[in-house]
Amino acid sequence: MAQDLREGLLLGMGNPLLDISATVGSDFLKKYHLESNGAILAEEQHKPMYDELIEKYKADFIAGGSVQNTMRVAQWFLEKPKIATYMGCVGTDKYSKILEDRARADGLNVRYQYTNKEPTGTCAVLITGNERSLCANLAAANCFSPLHIEELENKKLIDAAEYIYVSGFFLTVSPETIQTVARHAYENNKMFMMNLSAPFLCEFYKKPMLDALPYVDILFGNETEADTFAKVNDFQTTDRKEIALKITQMEKINKKRQRIVVITQGADKVLVAKDNSIIEFPATKLPPEKVVDTNGAGDAFVGGFLAQLVQGKNIDICVKCGVWAATEIVQRSGCTYEGKPNFIPC
Ligand SMILES: Nc1ncnc2c1ncn2[C@@H]1O[C@H](COP(=O)(O)OP(=O)(O)O)[C@@H](O)[C@H]1O
Ligand SMILES: [Mg+2]
Repeated sequence: MAQDLREGLLLGMGNPLLDISATVGSDFLKKYHLESNGAILAEEQHKPMYDELIEKYKADFIAGGSVQNTMRVAQWFLEKPKIATYMGCVGTDKYSKILEDRARADGLNVRYQYTNKEPTGTCAVLITGNERSLCANLAAANCFSPLHIEELENKKLIDAAEYIYVSGFFLTVSPETIQTVARHAYENNKMFMMNLSAPFLCEFYKKPMLDALPYVDILFGNETEADTFAKVNDFQTTDRKEIALKITQMEKINKKRQRIVVITQGADKVLVAKDNSIIEFPATKLPPEKVVDTNGAGDAFVGGFLAQLVQGKNIDICVKCGVWAATEIVQRSGCTYEGKPNFIPC
């Protein structure tokens, strides 16, 4: 499959993080003031949590980082290596080695920026039943500087990419880099795509998010992110279909195509707002015992989606592949996969 695709077609940028993942009880979430389905940045009070997870909960270390997960999953479908490029900042330590080895093994063209100022970022992943709470300690990921995309080799990779995907999480790190690549995408009529990534971004990073949105051709998000976005932007509705449609209608700079908004809702239907209408796609029903950990479900969804998009497939197939990929990943620990994907579009 996809042998005729060229290297560097897809570019992702985000925060490379090593996940420290464990199943915990609600008492643990309470102790650290975390919500069962949340995603936040670590504060001082969360610092002891990482050691506690490692020592008392025998946590697993898994390659994470939302965009890196997405790019790895896209590569899984594309098979031919290096179709996807990934950029983000890491430390010079054993954690970044784990991340890089995993990403390269999965075929990604990894272009990390390295810093000596901070260790590689980590993300506590706290699994309770079907929900996951994320608490990211960005550390080195937060040190990403726009100088990285001015390096000749990286500039060439940005020029080569036809599809560019950035997480909302990256808004807290380098909104200027997002603006630069977004403008590049617009000026060259490339596809620019973003993810809302977390409710706190819709709330507390509203300004950089709204600055990036006019460039966005496809916006992804989950149900809580869509709801928060609507509230913060005074949509005056809680109807999620209406919310998705309203986001498609917000200012868009590239008039050559309308914005598409894709909202996943966990085990519920995926909503796609496109051409002023909503299409719904069912998620795959799984018996509760098959859902191992929903961490990375949304990342995997976008990975499957992008794998089809870069092959010129229609949105219907992109969404079905997204659901297929996410269904695989929720049945495993972390955003991991095995063997060849046998997605059959129907
Ligand atoms: N409990 C579940 N059962 C079946 N599929 C799920 C479940 N949770 C997630 N998925 C799949 O993963 C996709 C993304 O999940 P979602 O929870 O919406 O994203 P996020 O990880 O961003 O919160 C869903 O559209 C669905 O296909
Ligand atoms: Mg979810």
